Amino acid sequence: MLSQEKIISHRLLGLQHGIHQLVLRGAIAATAQPGQFVHLKVGATTEPLLRRPISIARIDRARGEITLFYRVAGRGTALLAGAKEGETLSVLGPVGKGFALPGEGELLLVAGGIGIFPLFSLLEAVDRSRVKVKVLWGAESREFFEGAGLAVLRELDVAYEVATLDGSLGQKGLVTDLLASNLRREGGGQGMLPSVMPGFGRGDSVLRVAACGPRGMLKAVTELCLRQAVPVEVCLEERMACGVGACLGCVCTVTTAAGPARRRVCTDGPVFDGREVVWDEG
Ligand SMILES: Cc1cc2nc3c(=O)[nH]c(=O)nc-3n(C[C@H](O)[C@H](O)[C@H](O)COP(=O)(O)OP(=O)(O)OC[C@H]3O[C@@H](n4cnc5c(N)ncnc54)[C@H](O)[C@@H]3O)c2cc1C
Ligand code: FES
Repeated sequence: MLSQEKIISHRLLGLQHGIHQLVLRGAIAATAQPGQFVHLKVGATTEPLLRRPISIARIDRARGEITLFYRVAGRGTALLAGAKEGETLSVLGPVGKGFALPGEGELLLVAGGIGIFPLFSLLEAVDRSRVKVKVLWGAESREFFEGAGLAVLRELDVAYEVATLDGSLGQKGLVTDLLASNLRREGGGQGMLPSVMPGFGRGDSVLRVAACGPRGMLKAVTELCLRQAVPVEVCLEERMACGVGACLGCVCTVTTAAGPARRRVCTDGPVFDGREVVWDEG
């Protein structure tokens, strides 16, 4: 669906990492689901021609608003950063297949860097009176977290652990170190594990993992989950052109019963079952 969305608010969150928060009001919020994204026209002219994909980070159906967080990475996002409150943007969306929404059990959200953004919408959508949720988030430094929405986690009052490469906040190391220590019981099966989170109820509980971040991190997360038979969904990022499944510019390989198959990240994903993704494509 193509929609004209009004910019309600647009601000720079952290100078060093160029992360912006963009709130749009329009038709997209009515049907958006966690893990889906929008394909944005970033300039007023045909340059650049291609839209840019940005995850839907927060969904406020009552207000008809979605919130996006994006980092200025190149020409397209730099142009987007110049868009002013009150202007409208041409937005294609919501696009793609998002995360499954668990109705019970425990959910670990595992994010690397700006991979936290699509997980915000999942966090908000889950019924936390029935599902125990914890966020594991890794990035380079304290400064990154403070500019990238740590305030959102605090506002949502969710349990979280962070890891930084320089040790300036949380545990020094990688988010996969946090995941390994949270998945502390060996064995298991079909995601049935004793509660892995301190204070998270008693007895057996279905644990699931949802992850977003760099491909190498997602591969490592999937391997850790596979060892414990914990179901894992991963949100993949590929460079995109059309965003509607027509150009095949964003394909990845998955394993199916009939053998390897190509899937479009834009419309078959971006969320996939981590166990199906072929991580080492030739
Ligand atoms: C489904 C999806 C959801 C995304 N959600 C977000 C989000 O919520 N917030 C956010 O900041 N970014 C997100 N991205 C990445 C974002 O789309 C790119 O950073 C953006 O398109 C770059 O455009 P540009 O013109 O500024 O940079 P370009 O000049 O096109 O590229 C600048 C640099 O970014 C790299 N790059 C460009 N596109 C991608 C991509 N799709 N994946 C990985 N690297 C890329 C390029 O290789 C290059 O090194 C998402 C990407 C996808 C596919
Ligand atoms: S971007 Fe064209 S098929 Fe996915």
